[in-house]
Parts: sequence; C-alpha cells; structure tokens
Amino acid sequence: MALMVSLCCYILFTLLSYSAHSRSVPTTTSKTTVLDVAASIQDTLNAVSSQYSGATQSLTQQHQTLSVSSSLSLPLHSRVSLQQHSHPDYKSLLAARLARDSARVRSLSTRLDLAVRGIATSDLKPVDENFGTHEFEGPVVSGTSQGSGEYFSRVGIGKPPSQVYVVLDTGSDVSWVQCAPCADCYQQADPIFEPAASASYAPLSCESTRCESLDVFECRNNTCLYEVAYGDGSYTVGDFVTETISIGGESVKDVAIGCGHTNEGLFVGAAGLLGLGGGTLSFPSQLNATSFSYCLVNRDSDSASTLEFNSAIPHNTVTAPLRRNPQLDTFYYVGLTGISVSGELIKTPNTAFKIDENGNGGIIIDSGTAVTRLQAETYDALRSAFVNGTQGLQSTSGVALFDACYDLASMKTVDVPAVSFHFEDGKELALPAKNYLIPVDSQGTFCFAFAPTSAGMSIIGNVQQQGTRVSFDTANSVVGFSADQC
Ligand SMILES: *[C@@H]1O[C@H](CO)[C@@H](O)[C@H](O)[C@H]1NC(C)=O
Ligand SMILES: *[C@@H]1O[C@H](CO)[C@@H](O)[C@H](O)[C@H]1NC(C)=O
Ligand SMILES: *[C@@H]1O[C@H](CO)[C@@H](O)[C@H](O)[C@H]1NC(C)=O
Repeated sequence: MALMVSLCCYILFTLLSYSAHSRSVPTTTSKTTVLDVAASIQDTLNAVSSQYSGATQSLTQQHQTLSVSSSLSLPLHSRVSLQQHSHPDYKSLLAARLARDSARVRSLSTRLDLAVRGIATSDLKPVDENFGTHEFEGPVVSGTSQGSGEYFSRVGIGKPPSQVYVVLDTGSDVSWVQCAPCADCYQQADPIFEPAASASYAPLSCESTRCESLDVFECRNNTCLYEVAYGDGSYTVGDFVTETISIGGESVKDVAIGCGHTNEGLFVGAAGLLGLGGGTLSFPSQLNATSFSYCLVNRDSDSASTLEFNSAIPHNTVTAPLRRNPQLDTFYYVGLTGISVSGELIKTPNTAFKIDENGNGGIIIDSGTAVTRLQAETYDALRSAFVNGTQGLQSTSGVALFDACYDLASMKTVDVPAVSFHFEDGKELALPAKNYLIPVDSQGTFCFAFAPTSAGMSIIGNVQQQGTRVSFDTANSVVGFSADQC
C-alpha cells in the first residue's frame, strides 16, 4: 500500500513537474537558424594548417580596448593559436580536445563531490582513476598527457615583470606559476620564474589568513606550502607567496599566488594558471573586482579577444542570476530555467537546473569545459527535440560522445532548429547555430554538441559560449551574455 501511494505520488509529481514546462515560448526568435557549413569546414582546415605560427603571431596582435579607465584588460588566446600545428587532421585535433574535455568534467565533478562530502582535494593525489564519475566511452586520458587549458592570457609576474602565458580557469581559485628551483617542472615556452630575481617576491607565513584559506596547506619553516590537485592528474605543489601581477600595463601588488616547484600536467607552453573562480583566493577576489568578463574566441581560430576586470556590462546583454553553492564557492552557477528547440521549451523536471540542499544539481558556466553537459533526462529531451527538427537532414553515425550527427558535405549553408537558453523574466539567449552544431572532421560531418553527464552538476561549456562576451558581475550576482562583443 505504501508503495502504491508513493508510486502514485511519484507519477503525479512527475506529471505536474513536466506539465509546468511543456509549453511553447512566447518568442520573437524564429524556429530555425542558419548554419554556415562552408565557413565551419574552412575553420577546421585552418586549425590544422601551418598558417598559424604559434604564440608569437598572436602576441603581436593589438587587442581592442573596450574598457573604461578603471578597468583592466588583457588579450586572451585560444589553445589553437598557441599550439604549433601538432595534429595531422581535424579529427585528431578533435579527439584530443574531447579527451581533455572528459578529463575536465571528471575533475570538476570530483571537486564538487568532495565538497559536498566535506573532503579536501588533497586526497586526490595520487589520482585514483576509479574515483569520481565516469564520462562516456573513449580511452581514459589524463590531463597529464593531454595538457589542460583551452584559453590563455599573458601576464607579468614579479618586479620587474616576467611575461608568461597562463591558463584561464573559472573552475579553480588559486593562481600559480612554475618556479625555480624545479623539483619537477613540465616544459613551458617562457623561462621558468625566478623568485630570486624578483624584488616583490615574499613568502606568506602559515598564520596568514590567505594561507589558512587554502583547501590544503602545510607549514614548513613557518612558511606556507600549498598544494592544488585538479583531479585529472594535474597538480602543483610549492610555496604560497605574494607577488606583483601585471596585466595590461597595470600592476597589482600583494597577490597571493603559488610558486610551484613540483608541477604536473599543464602543457601548451603555459607557465601556470590564473584562477578566476568565485572563492576568496581567486584573482578577481584578490583584486576586489566587482566584475570580470571574457570572450572566448572561436576555438579553431587564432584571433585574440580580451579578459577584462571591472568593465561595464555591454549593451544588449542577456542577463541571468549568478548563483552560489553553499558547499563550494568556486563555481559560478547560472539561474537557467529552460532550454528551447524550434521555439518550444523542452520538457525537463522542475529540478533540472536547481542546486539542492546538499549542494548537488544546478548548472555552472565553465571556461575549461568544451561541450555542455546536462543531466541524462534533460539531455535526452533536448536531443529528441533537435533530432525531430532535423528530419530533412542526412543523419550519420555518432562520433565519440556525440550521438546526433549529420552529413552536410553537399551543403554550403543549412537551416537548423533554433536552440535557446531561457532565464528568469522571459530572458532568452539564442545560440548561434555554430555553437551547437560543430564539425567533427573536415569532410562535412557535424554533430549536435551537447552531452549527458552523471556529474553532480550540469555545465555550460565553451563551445556554447563562443563569440559571446560572458560577464560575471559578482557584486550584483548577475551573469551577462553579450552576443558578438569579442
Ligand atoms: C629554514 O629557513 C632558514 C632561514 O630562512 C633557511 O636557512 C633554511 O634553509 C630553511 N630550512 C628549510 C628546510 O627550508
Ligand atoms: C582588496 O581589499 C582588501 C581588504 O579591504 C585590501 O587589503 C586589499 O589591498 C585590496 N586589494 C586591492 C588590489 O585593491
Ligand atoms: C516534431 O516536429 C514536428 C514538426 O516537424 C512538430 O510538429 C512536432 O510537434 C515535433 N514533435 C515533438 C515531440 O517535438
């Protein structure tokens, strides 16, 4: 009897929560949008050609300053623009990208899992491959062999400043660079940072608030040692110190960073990482920035954009609530209410995008994850709606984690179902077609770039953020999405 009651209530609940969302959206957006197939294929060819001469070329590009005087702005580059043409073809480039992507999702998922269970991340090292959530098929390739990081900026460390590349990461807080003397440093493009050559280098004491704010620290000789493990095989260990960081011609003194003597995992020439998360030790927090924003340029191009601090949100920005997880202050959650395909909201459980009392659920925006991950039920509904809307297209077999793929080789452009994210107060972010139907080779195979996950949270990835300025207004708890503001 009890079983029947709960079963009946479950069904009723399910029906109620579904019906709440099964309606069409009053929207001015059309039901379809155009994908420029030829342009996307050309991008895949450029990404693996030798036309990009690596870092030096991007460095010489002058970035546009969109900012007001009190803001800080620095150029931002995609991985493709820093990496020499290291892949024979686009298929191979994509395979490497998707392997990194799975490692990234595992790492974020593990971080949340541990926070929810109240365990520090130090317990991750050495990395237990069986730990955390498993993502799809494909060989388990750790971040160690692939190299983490999809977007990069150049910053100055110390006084006088040494210019180095750093990975931009919204999924972690502690910034760090590889430091001499190296017990174990991976290869980087710029010289290893020499603390002895910097007049502004100062170790932090173990009693300092900033040392105690670390998830994992140790005291040696009364100086603070830090350790950060990313859960994908990458980690860094060394002295926690204060340094001057120079960005875009401005210097910020007394920023707590890691001076890593033992580092594993990050390649692509970057010297370290700039932590852009929401925690107290992140770079924006230490800067007392009220906001920051980035625009992730096309991942297959070598064009540059900017990372900005304290600049005003552009006009014509779609805004959404920025939410925090009481269990973990690093991640940026967004108040997504629904996703539509062809102007119809897909049916999702009411709880699809909500953070529960334990700290699970919700959807974060991440700079380092490529493909947007959704809970299985939500993904299935999205995929079904998209596939239903593409019956006129030649479908083809799945590729890697993608299970809705099309052969568009014979087309120059094609109309595809419009896909939008929806936020409170009827706000809608219509995604450009190329942000969800992406090439997987240079022969015209395209796949729907969303995927299911069993991770504790959903993730809006950088494929879906391409060409959009994403602003994190932490002072007002608002996330802004501005189309074409790179
Ligand atoms: C401890 O600090 C002293 C003085 O700063 C230094 O000479 C010594 O080498 C340090 N010991 C260790 C183990 O780092
Ligand atoms: C940020 O605020 C703290 C506390 O008020 C202050 O100590 C620190 O110097 C400020 N940092 C910057 C870069 O303004
Ligand atoms: C499938 O698409 C047709 C139009 O092509 C539409 O009328 C129908 O409602 C769709 N069905 C679902 C379940 O989305």
